[in-house]
Amino acid sequence: MTQPKKSPESLRSARWFAPDDIRSMGHRSRFMQMGYGPSDWVGKPVIGIINTWSDLNQCHTHFKQRVDDVKRGVLQAGGLPLELPAISLSEPIVKPTTMLYRNFLAMETEELLRSHPIDGAVLMGGCDKTTPGLLMGAFSAGLPAIYMPAGPMLRGNWKGKTLGSGSDVWKYWDERRAGNISAEDWVDVEAGIARSHGTCMTMGTAATMMGITEAIGLSLPGSAAIPAADANHPRMAAECGRRAVQMVWEDMTPASFLTREHFLNGIAAAMAMGCSTNAIIHVVAMSRRAGCPVSLADFDAASRKVPVIANIRPSGDQYLMEDFFYAGGMPALLKRIEQHLALDVRTVNGKSIGENVARAEVYNDDVIRPLSNPIYAEGALAVLRGNLAPDGVVIKPSACAPHLLKHTGRALVFDDYPSMKKASEDLDLDVTANDILVLRNAGPLGGPGMPEWGMLPIPTKLVKQGIRDMLRLSDARMSGTSYGACMLHCSPEAFIGGPLALVKTGDLISVDVPARTIHLNVSDEELATRKAAWQPPARRYERGYGWMFSKHILQADQGCDFDFLETDFGAPVAEPDIF
Ligand code: FES
Repeated sequence: MTQPKKSPESLRSARWFAPDDIRSMGHRSRFMQMGYGPSDWVGKPVIGIINTWSDLNQCHTHFKQRVDDVKRGVLQAGGLPLELPAISLSEPIVKPTTMLYRNFLAMETEELLRSHPIDGAVLMGGCDKTTPGLLMGAFSAGLPAIYMPAGPMLRGNWKGKTLGSGSDVWKYWDERRAGNISAEDWVDVEAGIARSHGTCMTMGTAATMMGITEAIGLSLPGSAAIPAADANHPRMAAECGRRAVQMVWEDMTPASFLTREHFLNGIAAAMAMGCSTNAIIHVVAMSRRAGCPVSLADFDAASRKVPVIANIRPSGDQYLMEDFFYAGGMPALLKRIEQHLALDVRTVNGKSIGENVARAEVYNDDVIRPLSNPIYAEGALAVLRGNLAPDGVVIKPSACAPHLLKHTGRALVFDDYPSMKKASEDLDLDVTANDILVLRNAGPLGGPGMPEWGMLPIPTKLVKQGIRDMLRLSDARMSGTSYGACMLHCSPEAFIGGPLALVKTGDLISVDVPARTIHLNVSDEELATRKAAWQPPARRYERGYGWMFSKHILQADQGCDFDFLETDFGAPVAEPDIF
């Protein structure tokens, strides 16, 4: 630990416990009601452990035990651990989409930390939106905080074949639709694809965000890829607890060390990892909360420089996160791309990224490739712009068929998911592999919550012809475990009258990924006529959280935060009065 900056008297929690007045007497007596005594809190940092465990989150089932490991670490370091449960956000279970509630978790995290006698925090997350939600809230709360990743689950297994979360669901569903696997096989896949606690073990959004968080410097080096079922995981959890206490004494708040370079490091790592497309929305939102904004342009600039070197599905074709861990994990990947990183930035363990990766080695060159032999020569994501997407549309070229990267096709447009799904099952549908499927009204407001519908199913008619990829365009997101030539996050979204709302079936759309362009081949005059005739759809919500969401959600290119949460970047909210 570096020289303490905090004294016991200056701890935030001392405002609740130390004064000799009636209010503090109430706080102390109520802690004594819970079985604590002065030796538990006097002069000790109180560490709030934000635990996103619930009976409905399959990826965090180990958090019930893991929180005890964190507490063990806090106690060893001389702190008082207190568990604070927060909304859990199970990616497959929460409807209509967890993205509707990412900002809810961020608000909950911020207010839990602010309203209680907490000096520092351990943030327990992993399943997709939990990572950005926790971090956004912690940035705004402004207390020292360290992130504890859930870790990926073990590899899936079916008939001796390795199964990857999500990616193999889509793959085998297409084979089932094509009549190539039986209903019995499908049930066996169902039983073999998720074999342990932990997050999806492909390079989906969970693994992406856990990796980015380590690359930014908000979790312990080497922590992101530890399999949830590995004994290294509880040891890492305990270390998070110990380190959180030290961070309080060092007064290591997010504002004291986070810079734009931290987030640019996260973006460079994302590119090399073959990241989920969701990384763009979350990292943009996180960086804006931290007062160090990055943009789509930063992602696209990185994608021109940093190749995909992690041979993990869905960008890679063979390995999963367990293999990535054995190959050296994030420190090894960061070591390999260190020429693209700001190495001197400080991280939560008190050391720089450069110091953290100095001794890192790659143990399997096929899992973490050398820069000279990448999976994909450019980064994982590309941002296209044009008259159809003035504020950008995102594609993952490393996970789509190369012949589609430059293509002009006829639009086949759907206004909602049910009509698209019904049409995709119609064996008489007027569609060819050269067409571009378009789904709209699936953005932040239209979805609502921008659901992961962007990997539109290939129409069954084409699947039976052997087609496995075609261009698809939407204002939705897609799962990080998805793949294919899916253009996503089209901004501004159709629901608010973005150009996507004006496309008609039969229009030609030209896509040029190397040139980063997308163009609707319709004249400006015709588009102006269509715009004048456009009618906004009916509002989705008239009350409740959804109403508030609809009033304040920002567009995808701005990270989909609530406008009122990012007002005046970094401006502090006053500490609560204690009277
Ligand atoms: Fe939890 Fe994929 S479902 S990480």
